[in-house]
Amino acid sequence: MSHVSSVAVVPARRVHARLRVPGDKSISHRYALLAAVAEGASRLANYSPGADCQSTLSCLAQLGVAIARGEDGTVTILGRGRAGLRSAAAPLDCGNSGTTMRLLSGILAGLPFPSRLAGDASLSRRPMRRVIEPLELMGARVESTGGRPPLTVHGAQLHGIEYRLPIPSAQVKSAILLAGLAAEGTTTVIEPAQTRDHTEQALVAFGVEMTPGGLKVVLEGGQRLTARALAVPGDFSSAAFWMVAAALLPGSRIEIEDVGLNPTRTALVGVLRRYGARVTATRADSTAGEPRGSIIVEGDRAGSVDIGPEEVPGLIDELPALAALGAAGGTVRVRGAGELRVKESDRIAVLVAGFRDLGIEAEEHEDGFTIGGSARPPAGGVAHAHDDHRMAMAFAIAALSARGPSTIEGAEAVAVSYPDFFAVLGRLAAPDRTGAAR
Ligand code: S3P
Repeated sequence: MSHVSSVAVVPARRVHARLRVPGDKSISHRYALLAAVAEGASRLANYSPGADCQSTLSCLAQLGVAIARGEDGTVTILGRGRAGLRSAAAPLDCGNSGTTMRLLSGILAGLPFPSRLAGDASLSRRPMRRVIEPLELMGARVESTGGRPPLTVHGAQLHGIEYRLPIPSAQVKSAILLAGLAAEGTTTVIEPAQTRDHTEQALVAFGVEMTPGGLKVVLEGGQRLTARALAVPGDFSSAAFWMVAAALLPGSRIEIEDVGLNPTRTALVGVLRRYGARVTATRADSTAGEPRGSIIVEGDRAGSVDIGPEEVPGLIDELPALAALGAAGGTVRVRGAGELRVKESDRIAVLVAGFRDLGIEAEEHEDGFTIGGSARPPAGGVAHAHDDHRMAMAFAIAALSARGPSTIEGAEAVAVSYPDFFAVLGRLAAPDRTGAAR
């Protein structure tokens, strides 16, 4: 993300398209990490093109794993078991990716050498005690800078633990399970609320015996993983921006094909219906425990949606997109989402500031936000993404409903999960030629 760019977004009357979105970021990370510790060559089709999943691949390459990327986006990873990983000569560069740093720490905790993990300015601000504490309870030692990166993970012979997560977090759950693979005995993770279960599904796909599902996950240590050929479904969290755009602009219709429909990720579907959109999600099949299919969203009317703490874990990455529903006559109230403050940016502060800059009424709460309430479309303006891919995309979608053009500064941040986002936006948004008449 070396070059900083601004992108102009013109108002759109409606959006109309059938499209696919890039491979799922969460699933891509997991398939790559498990392929690296499996035995044999795994082929991962539709691997996410985003910079975050590239960070995972380059860390694995630093650890001595052979990786090839085909022109069609398929990644081939030659795993030689956990014992095939080698100490890296330089710090492992996790870039902007919290998932890379937290999940990889779980693997490194069971290896017989120290590893240093570093990241960019945003990742260097993010809390890591949530993974350090359980990994140390399992027998590793982790040095940090006041609980933040860079980290030095001193691997050791681990032992299984039973751990109650203090907060719902799929990344922490996953770090513990990955460490549990190398541990003696049983590792049990108990979650306070259901978070995405991609790690459990992927472990089973790579041949681990365990039962995914539910708030209590149990894993026996010492199991071997077998290489697999897998296809990553489209990323529901990327699809979310187009789904919200269609809901926001009446008369719109968006159809997204081959997108992941894992029920731990799709709470947005119900929220869009509450707002007033028509949504059809059709499951076509399921591969490696991951349901996939198509979604159609048709915009109809603007309503109000209230999101409380119980809905937040199933929507955590969709909350920025969803906030844009407050841009054109609707209202969105979110509470119990304090975790948003420790994502790639402080997503509560940055979201509220950016929406206000676009002329949208927005109020900040300690653990959430209220967006909207005005019957008149916003004026448009200049909003800054603050190095956060989901902020750039949320502002762009909200700006579609404005009376005048807007500018998204720091738009290059979309490279983290959806490099083509602005190119697709340019194709599917029919300009609002009525301009100031709205
Ligand atoms: C992710 C889990 C979530 C999510 C993040 C990706 C994952 O984070 O916000 O974008 O792939 O496990 P937390 O585990 O911190 O909630």
